[in-house]
Amino acid sequence: GSGKFFVGGNWKCNGTKDSISKLVSDLNSAKLEDDVDVVVAPPYIYIDQVKSSLTDRIEISAQNSWVGKGGAFTGEISAEQLIDIGCNWVILGHSERRHVIGEDDQFIGKKAAYALDQNLKVIACIGEKLDEREAGKTFDVCFQQMKAFSDYVTSWTNVVVAYEPVWAIGTGKVATPQQAQEVHAAVRGWLKENISPEVASTTRIIYGGSVNGSNCLELAKQEDIDGFLVGGASLKGPEFATIINSAT
Ligand code: G3H
Repeated sequence: GSGKFFVGGNWKCNGTKDSISKLVSDLNSAKLEDDVDVVVAPPYIYIDQVKSSLTDRIEISAQNSWVGKGGAFTGEISAEQLIDIGCNWVILGHSERRHVIGEDDQFIGKKAAYALDQNLKVIACIGEKLDEREAGKTFDVCFQQMKAFSDYVTSWTNVVVAYEPVWAIGTGKVATPQQAQEVHAAVRGWLKENISPEVASTTRIIYGGSVNGSNCLELAKQEDIDGFLVGGASLKGPEFATIINSAT
């Protein structure tokens, strides 16, 4: 793998003040291995609550950010505002933003460039849909999504790439370690060819899609899997801690 193991918990549009307070207290009391970067992404409106109650051991991410400077953009949150409240990461290009909300490659690429410019670190998501996998287009789709990021992003230092096959997200149908490893290796190869060997060897490529406490260890052993982006299982403190501690 490349660099420090990285585990993100994407809470998506879940939680209440009470459930989040319980989750934070479970995370605060969990025993976490030292050599893992850990980030959680609460819904915007709970970031401040989490920030003021969660251990500094765990960093905070937003699940989205606006494509440019703030202003008359109803319902949006800007990168500057995230930095202002002490949120240092943002997830961009998540499949739900792409396929449910309709964000396209260029919009996502611009968001990534703007967020990085404001000193946010970016979890840049890519991944194919089931019909694309079945049509043998997995690499094409992932490479095209990588290219869209690279068209806008000038430095990869603060980027973590998350490979999340859409068919594995929230379905309980995790990619096999071999399926995930194959794509991770291909994406690393793409970085090597298209950006630089150095970026390829230092950029973390994490896997997401039905990761849980039982399947994380086998996935974590794969050479090119540098961590996870966890949805459902990140809402359970003890299970999320198990995933964090699967770092090899
Ligand atoms: O960002 C997280 C992914 O969408 C994975 O979600 O672990 O619930 O499948 P999941």
